[in-house]
Amino acid sequence: CGIVGYIGRNDTKEILLKGLEKLEYRGYDSAGIAVMNENGVHVFKEKGRIADLREAVDVNVLANIGIGHTRWATHGVPSRTNSHPHQSASGRFTLVHNGVIENYDLLKRDYLADVAFVSETDTEVIVQMFEKFVYEGLEVLEAFRKTLSLLHGSYALALLDEKNNDTIFVAKNKSPLLVGLGADFNVVASDAMAMLQVTSEYVELMDKEIVIVTKNGVTIQNLNGETVTRTSYIAELDASDIEKGTYPHYMLKEIDEQPAVMRKIIQAYQNEQGELTIDPEIIHALNAADRVYIIAAGTSYHAGLVGKQFIEKMAKIPVEVHISSEFGYNMPLLSEKPLFVFISQSGETADSRAVLVTIKEMGYQSLTITNVPGSTLSREADYTLLLHAGPEIAVASTKAYTAQLAVLVILAEVTAKSRNLDPEFDLIHELGLVANAMEVLCDSKELIEHISREFLAVTRNAFFIGRGIDYYVGLEGALKLKEISYIQAEGFAGGELKHGTIALIEEGTPVIALATQESVNLSIRGNVKEVVARGANPCIISMKGLNMDEDSFVIPEVHDLLTPLISVIPLQILAYYAALHRDCDVDKPRNLAKSVTVE
Ligand code: G6P
Repeated sequence: CGIVGYIGRNDTKEILLKGLEKLEYRGYDSAGIAVMNENGVHVFKEKGRIADLREAVDVNVLANIGIGHTRWATHGVPSRTNSHPHQSASGRFTLVHNGVIENYDLLKRDYLADVAFVSETDTEVIVQMFEKFVYEGLEVLEAFRKTLSLLHGSYALALLDEKNNDTIFVAKNKSPLLVGLGADFNVVASDAMAMLQVTSEYVELMDKEIVIVTKNGVTIQNLNGETVTRTSYIAELDASDIEKGTYPHYMLKEIDEQPAVMRKIIQAYQNEQGELTIDPEIIHALNAADRVYIIAAGTSYHAGLVGKQFIEKMAKIPVEVHISSEFGYNMPLLSEKPLFVFISQSGETADSRAVLVTIKEMGYQSLTITNVPGSTLSREADYTLLLHAGPEIAVASTKAYTAQLAVLVILAEVTAKSRNLDPEFDLIHELGLVANAMEVLCDSKELIEHISREFLAVTRNAFFIGRGIDYYVGLEGALKLKEISYIQAEGFAGGELKHGTIALIEEGTPVIALATQESVNLSIRGNVKEVVARGANPCIISMKGLNMDEDSFVIPEVHDLLTPLISVIPLQILAYYAALHRDCDVDKPRNLAKSVTVE
């Protein structure tokens, strides 16, 4: 879900539509724009894709101010009516909103009992309430402020007033929003990528700020109505990074980028002497901690599970890994000196941000590992480590996962050295081997496509098993498969199968087993025999040196702690082809959002 806004020249409609296309990767189920000219406000919205919206837009409407929105349904089903923009009863005010208004029911009851609502959304409450306050006599800005002060929850919003065609009213709390600056225009966007087409100069907004955006100026005000000055920054994104080029899908492009990302990370974290290096303050924070708490969601959570192995085995610091949405209300007993590490590709995940806010209030230190410089989690944590993976557009995360693992292992290594723990291996060299192995795997797509056809073309479900570090990669493999192919897939610890899950094995059920660890090679193969005896169709992915005749695919040999960086790649490719064979929308799977900015 995302927001765009533009005020300036005549081609607003096209700029908004292009902006929304750039936000498509965040996931959405409907979209809309509103543009305003001397004839009033024109709203176009559709359920489905931006391409559908494009068709619905009247090409003859010219305007130099407008707002746009992609919606990922939270309150109310995906439909044309529930999609944004929403309008006030008289049609004077038009609003787009990201986030969730938690008290919308109460607000409806207390302020809007006499208003007939058109949609089922929480958003409509904002625009109706705003109009009500204006009609009760408040100035527009006062009404805006009063409305915002009554909202509980998260919002990034942009609003048009039909009686003022020179202003976009903007506000933000918890949900991401930026203002972009141009010569004779200004823009609003959930992320810079949307508006790179017209400007690369942006200003960050803080929670509870409001912004008055006109063609020639941007005025930021804080909660008390005081004007805030803030310097702009240049978004260092290369527009070509966000093009697919000759690839049919972003996911495939991003899978293939992994070797290059690996090499970039090795470079980025190396000093002039060719040693791995990390900001000494971060290493000091780790050394000062008696326990690390990794907080993350989705794929980043799976990276955290592997990261725990790196930090515990190499730097000898105990680590707990928590799902952010659970940690929020179910906080474990904390150690005396915790350090919180947030892993987030986007740096915007609301569940993780909620934990960051809480632990900051408790006075604890935090480090964010993210792909997006300037993202909310990066700005608000004490320290940041960047992934250097380049924009990840496909909803299913691939290169960010392997980049997260690489940064985590570098963090573990530099910390270990600072504690005079013997480095187990030459990490720069080993990561170089990982990059080479990734290349080999990316070149093996044909074989993996074949395996995908054999095991996943017609199945309803699939299981991934592994032991130790392979188990965590299995979890990620299962997540990839279910996200984009909609095959019901689960990852299990090999030994746990017999305690329940084995009941699900039927004739032909695909079981994908990872065998990259010498210490458990025979045990995982024992688990494969157990499922084969019950009719399963086994697909063993092993590492060179541990492979046996029955294996379907063999990955190159790398250090046994680093296998997750490469064993995940065949799983990513398997999922990609499974989705393709099933005619699924690989880059934009149903119901999912890339960047989930609601809790
Ligand atoms: C969403 C995405 C997942 C992602 C998760 C965490 O659910 O669909 O692919 O892993 O958010 O995102 P983050 O940006 O915090 O890593």
